[in-house]
Order: sequence, then C-alpha cells, then structure tokens
Amino acid sequence: MEHTLTQIKDYADLTVAELAALVDSLRLPRHMAIIMDGNGRWAARRGLPRIAGHKKGMEVVHEVVETCARLGVPALTLYAFSTENWKRPPLEVSFLMSLLTLYLRQELSLMKRENIRFSTIGRVEDLPAEARAWIEKAKTETAGNTGMVLDLALSYGGRWEIIEAAKKIAADIKSGKMEPSALDERTFSGYLDTRGMPELDLVIRTSGERRVSNFLLWQMAYAELYFTEALWPDFTQRDLLIAILDYQGRQRRFGKTSEQLGS
Ligand code: IPE
Ligand code: IPE
Ligand code: MG
Repeated sequence: MEHTLTQIKDYADLTVAELAALVDSLRLPRHMAIIMDGNGRWAARRGLPRIAGHKKGMEVVHEVVETCARLGVPALTLYAFSTENWKRPPLEVSFLMSLLTLYLRQELSLMKRENIRFSTIGRVEDLPAEARAWIEKAKTETAGNTGMVLDLALSYGGRWEIIEAAKKIAADIKSGKMEPSALDERTFSGYLDTRGMPELDLVIRTSGERRVSNFLLWQMAYAELYFTEALWPDFTQRDLLIAILDYQGRQRRFGKTSEQLGS
C-alpha cells in the first residue's frame, strides 16, 4: 500500500515521455479493459448536455487506443455500451448509437495504420443497422491485422454472456457434441464472446465509481483492478501510463504466498 502511494507521488514529477520509458514492455497486461465512465458528469460540470461528454469521450478513446497499440498491449476491451444502458433516455441511446457509427467511420484509418484488429463482444444484433454495417466493415477490413486486438463491448453484459455460454453448452451436450465431464474452465471460456483472447490482466474504471457494472464477470476472476477519480473525458495518456505502471508494481499471487513467489 505504502509502496504504491509513494510511487504515485513520484509519478507526478515525471513527464509523459519519462513515464512511458518506465513501462516494462515485457510485462504489459496481456488484456486490458476499461470501464469508460463519467461522460455525463463531465458535461454537467460544464453546463453542457450529456452528449457533449460522450463526444469528448470519443476523442479520449482515440488517444487511448493509439497509445495501447503503440505500447504493444495485445488486447484492449472498451466498455462502450452495456445491456443496462438501453434503459437510458431514448435520445441519449440514439446519440450513442450514431456516435458509434461516427467512431468507426473515423477510426478505421487508425486501426489500419496501427495494425489493429477490430472485434466486438455483446449483443451486436441489438444495434441499429448502420452501426452493424460499420462493425462488419471494420472487422472485415482489419481481419488480417496482427497487432493489438481492439474489442468494443456493445450491448454487453457479463451475466448475459455467461447465460449464452450455458445455453450453447447445454445444446452441445444435448446433441452429443460434448460430454458433461469434458466441461472445465478452459472449455467454458471457449463459449464466451472473449474466446481466443488473452487472459484479462487489468481493468481500469474512471470517474471514481468502484463497481464492475456487469462487465467481464467471468474474465475478471484474477484481474487487477485500478480505479481513478478522473472522469473519462479528462483521462489522459499520462493517466493511462500511471495505471499500467501501478499494475506493473503489484505482486500477483494467484492464491500463493509471497514467499512462494519470491523463490
Ligand atoms: C459513460 O459515461 C458512458 C456510457 C455509459 C455510455 P456516463 O454516461 O455513464 O457518465 P456518468 O456516469 O453519467 O457521469
Ligand atoms: C458502465 O457505466 C457502462 C459503460 C461504461 C458502458 P454506467 O455508467 O452505465 O454504470 P453504472 O450504471 O453507473 O453502474
Ligand atoms: Mg456512468
């Protein structure tokens, strides 16, 4: 605890370039996920409509995606829209959907330039046709890319994902494709939307909220959690680097003792 706090105090004196130089490229999170929260509050503090916060938030997504790709993070999942977010006022929902289309239109060139492969998790079939068409286009046109996987969680819910997996497993057992005894953690993971993605190592949530809001419930089992007060539209490259450095300063014990890990 003490150690981490001291480190963060030290980080304050460092420039972005110095922070970047401190990042150990051999110990990057294999899969990083971000709960991008606080757009509405950012806008409210400026007397702006909530959608202004979402728009500014999209610019931050651009910077974070570019930085993660350049650092060499293998996979980045961004929580863009939850299954619960459908309960928001219809106008906000439709704005978010058109923003998604705008994002894909604008960012496809970044994905190509940075060798990013685009992917999604969640109930993509719930999205408006225009957004779905751009999702398909981005997936097809980046399918051969070998760099970072950029994964957008869209109409995504962790419980929904687990239930879907359970249904598919039940169907495979019923049809004789799988024996119940063959089901283990690895095969179960293979039924989730995140199948094939690396183990989730780090989850960041902005805006000071300390909850997981139905995000990557199965995958989070041993992830490191990082909470920051920064609202998503204020989240900077510097904040991102500090989160990664904080992660790299932690000892992950996976149930073992420090002594076991030290030897
Ligand atoms: C996150 O910001 C964006 C989405 C959930 C789509 P919010 O819109 O939740 O912002 P706050 O939490 O109201 O400030
Ligand atoms: C979580 O944020 C979902 C996304 C960031 C897309 P919310 O703002 O919807 O979360 P709650 O409702 O405050 O938990
Ligand atoms: Mg919120």
